Amino acid sequence: MLFQVVRNGSLAGALLLAAGCSSGGGEAQPEGQGGSGGSAGNGGSGAQTSGAGGSGGSGSAGCAEFAMPTDVDCAAPLDGVLPVNLRCTGLYGDFDQRELACGVLEYKPAVELWSDAAKKRRFVSIPKGQHVDTTDPDAFVYPEGTQFWKEFSVTGADGAQRLAETRLLRKTAAGWVYTSYVWSEDEKQAIQMQNDFGVEDLYGTGHTVPNRDQCKECHVGRADYVLGWDALMLGEGAQGLSRESLVELGLIEDGSNLALAIPGNEVERRALGYLHANCGVSCHNDLAESAAHDTGLYLRLEASELGSVTATDAVRTGINKRPAENAKYDGLTNPDPANWYDIRPGDPSRSLLIARQMLRGFEGQMPRIGTHKIDEAGVEVVTRWIEEMKEDTYPPPGP
Ligand code: HEC
Repeated sequence: MLFQVVRNGSLAGALLLAAGCSSGGGEAQPEGQGGSGGSAGNGGSGAQTSGAGGSGGSGSAGCAEFAMPTDVDCAAPLDGVLPVNLRCTGLYGDFDQRELACGVLEYKPAVELWSDAAKKRRFVSIPKGQHVDTTDPDAFVYPEGTQFWKEFSVTGADGAQRLAETRLLRKTAAGWVYTSYVWSEDEKQAIQMQNDFGVEDLYGTGHTVPNRDQCKECHVGRADYVLGWDALMLGEGAQGLSRESLVELGLIEDGSNLALAIPGNEVERRALGYLHANCGVSCHNDLAESAAHDTGLYLRLEASELGSVTATDAVRTGINKRPAENAKYDGLTNPDPANWYDIRPGDPSRSLLIARQMLRGFEGQMPRIGTHKIDEAGVEVVTRWIEEMKEDTYPPPGP
């Protein structure tokens, strides 16, 4: 089982490193992976001896070497490039004990994507001796063989937490391949979703496993598909791994261009960070491929636009802007387009951003996929930002 050294009592920074086991850590800790009792070890202080060496790690206590299982079929199916069984992917050295493979590191980004309060754990493995190229702080480039996993646990019909799915992104010579492994009802095995279909209402939990097109819709928002790693997501508040610890581990060669921070006061920083992680990194950015490109509302925090709040895309493209022609209003109490601005300073009730964030069950809900429940805390963060907008920073609202 995993444990994290408790560095401070900050509940806000609590990171679930093992099922039902939370520990504090408001600041990113290079050695925040395990260490305690030597149980996890993977990223522990011994990590530099093994690096994040894919299956090749050694020397860090508590992890288990990955060996391709021989009792399940690990061949890649004809129609896909990922094996059918999660056991074959290199996440666990000891699958039954859920002990991570040596070289697999656990982390949590500074801000998470809301997924109906599902509990998530994230893991990464970067091939031994390789590193992530961070020359462009908005678009890291990963070595071939890099794998990211994201595990979802949800509340079962009996009220207990249960494993739902483990998603995988792997960089191959041909580009990124991805799928989700759906856990069996007895949580003993995880098998790739069938026919790329995803699963609605998994075991009556209300959780939806997205289909592969949906994975792509969000993840294609940048050339290298990883959305949770950039200078800010690995900055203040990140746990397990951070931009500094990745440099220490040799997984980032030169992090000197990554010392970036979100501008503004606390209310602004929280709102801009929330919008970046929940809307900007995936769809609402100006990359041609991104799903919300045509809205003209860009919410990603780009490295070159962090000088002031007014330099950010969210403010430049959202404040006092009338929504795009094709904006959706179905399900809103006031569906008249004349009522709405993307963001109207001081007036959440006429800010379409908030109204759509509070909408579910209509096409215009935001995020569009992956959620059936409103993120009340997220709504509060954005509402407060809009309520507190002052004219010295934000242009006064139009009529
Ligand atoms: C609604 C948009 C959305 C959908 C749909 C989605 N993801 Fe993601 N995913 C994200 C965002 C945003 C992050 C980073 C933030 C976080 O982890 O909370 C992420 C993180 C991940 C990670 C961790 C590495 C990373 O990119 O940060 C993996 C692995 C992953 N997703 C795989 C998948 C797979 C496979 C699917 C489909 C089965 C999928 N995702 C569907 C938005 C999405």
